[in-house]
Amino acid sequence: MSRVIYDGQAIERGDLSVLDCLTEHGINIPSSCHSGLCQTCLSRAASGSIPARAQTGLKETQIAQNYFLACVCYPEHDIEVAMEDGVNKLPALVSGVKHLSADILGVHLKPQHPFNYRAGQFINFFKDENTVRSYSLASVPELDDELFLHVRKVPGGQVSPWMFEHLKPGDQVQITEPAGECFYVPGKPAQNILLVGTGSGLAPLYGIIRDALQQGHTGKIVLYHGSTSFGGLYLVDELRTLAQKHENFSYVPCISESAVPEGYASGMVLDVVLARQADLSGWRVFLCGHPEMVKSGRQEAFLAGASMSEIFADPF
Ligand SMILES: Cc1cc2nc3c(=O)[nH]c(=O)nc-3n(C[C@H](O)[C@H](O)[C@H](O)COP(=O)(O)OP(=O)(O)OC[C@H]3O[C@@H](n4cnc5c(N)ncnc54)[C@H](O)[C@@H]3O)c2cc1C
Ligand code: FES
Repeated sequence: MSRVIYDGQAIERGDLSVLDCLTEHGINIPSSCHSGLCQTCLSRAASGSIPARAQTGLKETQIAQNYFLACVCYPEHDIEVAMEDGVNKLPALVSGVKHLSADILGVHLKPQHPFNYRAGQFINFFKDENTVRSYSLASVPELDDELFLHVRKVPGGQVSPWMFEHLKPGDQVQITEPAGECFYVPGKPAQNILLVGTGSGLAPLYGIIRDALQQGHTGKIVLYHGSTSFGGLYLVDELRTLAQKHENFSYVPCISESAVPEGYASGMVLDVVLARQADLSGWRVFLCGHPEMVKSGRQEAFLAGASMSEIFADPF
């Protein structure tokens, strides 16, 4: 049985990840997704070998320095975790907060240092030293001089309700560098693009669409945004205006559980998509939002002809 060594203390790991093992013993390492996605739990091994899975998605330079993701690290042999802060925290100023709907808050941030990102990537936001959550970037570096987040209020959550109640312009907060691979890559301007989102899953898609359009994408760009009710949809006017301005962009808002006004599709977003987009051969597909929608969407898009390497997803 392997042990986790921290600050001179050797702890039997049992079946736990390094993160859970340390947390159970009162050692707080910041964490958010617990699935190797957000990189909040980035830690460094002072000694011991690191399983490859725990370094998936890290930069070569981080791997060379023995950084690893503690939440998905299950080492076979003893590992010593260095006592240092793995995540690079960057200061940012809250420049605006605005309700986009009853349960979506638009948050504008101005990083206090140069910040390079791609629309659709995500940052990690620190509520305090150990409480961190990931939020996708709806802004586009070439179009916007601030970062835009869409935060959905999750009842009973530690961070999102707090942001609704307490975050205000002028606040100084800490974020991380951007991460994630859900963004527009130029090079195939005539390829058709399908984007499917639920709830605040619109955030990365909104960034990706505006990025593709400003980079001169000529293929079709089709967005389906789903919610159970009319009130759950947001940025409807902005998206309709964008569709009027760009012939190759179309927007289909979908409502699944309540009365459906004219101009909206009725049904679960994925059912609406599949009824209208039977053949996805050669398409690039982005899926963001509810994990079950993203999981089924990935399968269905593949079955409809999209190549797995052309399907990008952020489940949350
Ligand atoms: C890559 C990525 C990108 C994301 N982008 C966005 C985005 O753009 N916009 C967005 O809104 N969200 C996004 N998320 C989700 C976001 O990071 C948070 O998970 C979300 O805001 C909820 O955080 P919270 O602190 O409010 O809730 P949490 O505290 O994480 O709680 C979540 C739920 O679990 C319940 N819960 C908490 N603790 C317990 C417990 N001990 N026992 C039982 N139940 C419990 C809560 O009641 C709540 O319902 C993203 C996530 C990822 C991984
Ligand atoms: S908490 Fe480990 S990668 Fe997100």
